[in-house]
Amino acid sequence: MTAQYDAIVIGAGAAGLMCAIAAGQRGLRVLVVDHANKVGKKILMSGGGRCNFTNTGATPANYLSANPHFCKSALARYTPAHFIELVERHRIAYHEKELGQLFCDESSKQVVKLLLDECAAANVEVRTHCSIEAVLHVDNGEFRLRTTQGAFSAPALVVASGGLSIPSMGASGFGYQLAKQFGHEVLPTRAGLVPLTLTGKHAERLHDLAGVSLPVEARCNDVIFRNFMLVTHRGISGPSILQISNFWQPGDDLRLDLLPGIDIDALLQEWQRERRDAELKTLLGEVMPKRFAQRLCEHWIANKPLRQYNAPELRGIAGLLSSWPLIASGTEGYRTAEVTLGGVDTDGLSSSTMMSRHVPGLYFIGEVVDVTGWLGGYNFQWAWASGHAAGLAL
Ligand code: FDA
Repeated sequence: MTAQYDAIVIGAGAAGLMCAIAAGQRGLRVLVVDHANKVGKKILMSGGGRCNFTNTGATPANYLSANPHFCKSALARYTPAHFIELVERHRIAYHEKELGQLFCDESSKQVVKLLLDECAAANVEVRTHCSIEAVLHVDNGEFRLRTTQGAFSAPALVVASGGLSIPSMGASGFGYQLAKQFGHEVLPTRAGLVPLTLTGKHAERLHDLAGVSLPVEARCNDVIFRNFMLVTHRGISGPSILQISNFWQPGDDLRLDLLPGIDIDALLQEWQRERRDAELKTLLGEVMPKRFAQRLCEHWIANKPLRQYNAPELRGIAGLLSSWPLIASGTEGYRTAEVTLGGVDTDGLSSSTMMSRHVPGLYFIGEVVDVTGWLGGYNFQWAWASGHAAGLAL
């Protein structure tokens, strides 16, 4: 017996559930299948357990894709205000942390509950522990799924199986395989919003500072992010580094301004006039974490009382502090990455409906598509927006 639906969604994450809700509200019989033991695992672990569910300032400029125009239509039709309205309707208290990032006051569980309550209200059927063994496209245009819980069939199939990040949470390359099976291009994938690793001298000199955090301006390939950097046992992390990781690839020049917003030339000259006998490491320790300042003066800058530096030396120090070259060896990879860059090529999809241009009735939404947001609620906004666009089109 094959159970018949109007649409089947593969993946009960942010995008898949939003799509199912939008379609279910239109009266469609929708089935969502997920191989994991519970729905929305990434939502649950997101935002440190408080889910940064959107960003009030989200625009297409906050996304990376081989086609930067692709995300425009969906983002314009389902905006942060739409999701905020849903959150408020479900009486979930939230706050802005910084830079337009909205978090639940209490728990990410509330966002999963919101989605499941909306699914129930729209008569959406959600099956967990459901592994897919085969996806067939049969002669009448129907999609037929053979799964560990039986066979299901529908004229529309939505692939919302996410990217490769955090395999322990159920991430798989299934969506990419399926895309290829149906003749879609899959652009090379790599870990995004991910800590960078250091080897050699940088690693030796910094690893015991793990836990030290300081504001920096990270620059790479003409992109700049100002926020905190955190030294880790394996390298560097923190919001500025996660952000820049989306734009960095091995071999790229990565520079850090270690005193962002400070005129370092002027500061050094002032110190030389007014604090002549103080050592540089002591003075730097007043404007950045002491241990970090000390380490800089052990390995990168000769430490002495300010009166002993000549003008070219001071210029050199200012140059180093404002543009510290850091040679990252790689990233921590999918194990800790928040997202996957690359994925199903948008050239093969309609930007207004997310439907395949090759196979009518087949849709790709969320992270499996080659659209990746910055850190700060942008990725969930893409999941909601692309899911909603498909849900209205099924
Ligand atoms: P998602 O990965 O959420 O869902 C895919 C679903 O498909 C999963 O439930 C999976 O089990 C299922 N699946 C996979 N393969 C399958 C198969 N073969 N068969 C059946 N089911 C299958 N973003 C943001 O905006 N704000 C934030 O605060 C955070 N925080 C954050 C923290 C951490 C630790 C991570 C890893 C990620 C974030 N993100 C984030 C990113 C965000 O979680 C991500 O972009 C979205 O969850 C993507 O939603 P999708 O629905 O596309 O995939």
